Amino acid sequence: PDSVPATCVTVPVTDKVIRCVSADGFQCPGVYRPEDVVDFSALPPPNGPLRVRRPAHLVGADAEYVRKYEAGVQMMRDLDASGDPRSFKSQAAIHEAYCNFHYKVTAAAVAATRTAGAIDLDVHFSSIFAPWHRMYIYFFERIIGELIGDSAFALPYWNWDAPDGMMLPPIFNNASSPLYDANRDPAHVNAVMDLNKGPGAENDLPLCTDDACVKENNLSVIYRQMAVDTALQFHGNKFCAGGTPGSPGSLENAAHTAVHIWVGGNMGVLGTAGHDPVFYSHHANVDRMWHLWTTALGNDDFLGTGTGGDDWRDTSFVFYDEKRRPVHISVRDVLDAGRLGYTYEEKETLEWLDKRP
Ligand code: C2O
Repeated sequence: PDSVPATCVTVPVTDKVIRCVSADGFQCPGVYRPEDVVDFSALPPPNGPLRVRRPAHLVGADAEYVRKYEAGVQMMRDLDASGDPRSFKSQAAIHEAYCNFHYKVTAAAVAATRTAGAIDLDVHFSSIFAPWHRMYIYFFERIIGELIGDSAFALPYWNWDAPDGMMLPPIFNNASSPLYDANRDPAHVNAVMDLNKGPGAENDLPLCTDDACVKENNLSVIYRQMAVDTALQFHGNKFCAGGTPGSPGSLENAAHTAVHIWVGGNMGVLGTAGHDPVFYSHHANVDRMWHLWTTALGNDDFLGTGTGGDDWRDTSFVFYDEKRRPVHISVRDVLDAGRLGYTYEEKETLEWLDKRP
């Protein structure tokens, strides 16, 4: 089916710039009538309480919170899987659709900025990565809040940049919880993660024989991904404006990818990652890393003017919100977490800040 889930550059949402190309019966999310789309910037700003995302390894102590979070995910699982875009399956399918070539950027959208014809859309490996995932978990969080009737509900973040958070958070490791996924790498579910693996790995860090050393290395990996000072290094190559996806930034390439691989199972493959509930907490921390990069570290998302930054800021997608409305949202709408009504609680000092290897 044709749908209009995304625009690239400044092509208006009413143009069918992205086409769902599923040939295998995959139910592409985001099939809706263009006339139903509402613009995010026209919606009133959230007037509920600020949603405070807390570290996942600490929220376990808050039984009331865990009960609500589990209830919300269970309710998503119980919704009509293909009939309700808020169902857990539909939500997980969004991630698959956007990374497994179910959409194409058509020639019409590409013409202005690219020489090649239609290309596969992938929200990874370029500067689309950070804002697209911010949008995705924003709507996921709002949906849970709506289902449990708590507008203050905030996702927990997997605090893997702090030594105490460098294991699978226990709330995700309870086999009778809707937050559980039985397919994770069994060797890792109770182990300290090693972030010095995968594409961002550096072989100049010490070889470790104990967890304390692995944790130190992890802090150095985080330091390196955060201590870049241009937006291009941090966010990766431009997707639109003639940029070539295939060049992820340090935010995506280092700890983010290492954690996916380390968890394994559904998380280990982009197409299935959204099926593991820990995905949304993993990405809450990726999102927090971006938030810290611009706030605590004082960097600027400036990717250039004209065909650089403006194309990035105008890149837009359509997501279903908690009321099942298709909402058209642009990168420029999500550059400030405050505008989206959430923030991050910082419990610990940022140890990686002084871990230059
Ligand atoms: Cu869309 Cu962590 O990947």
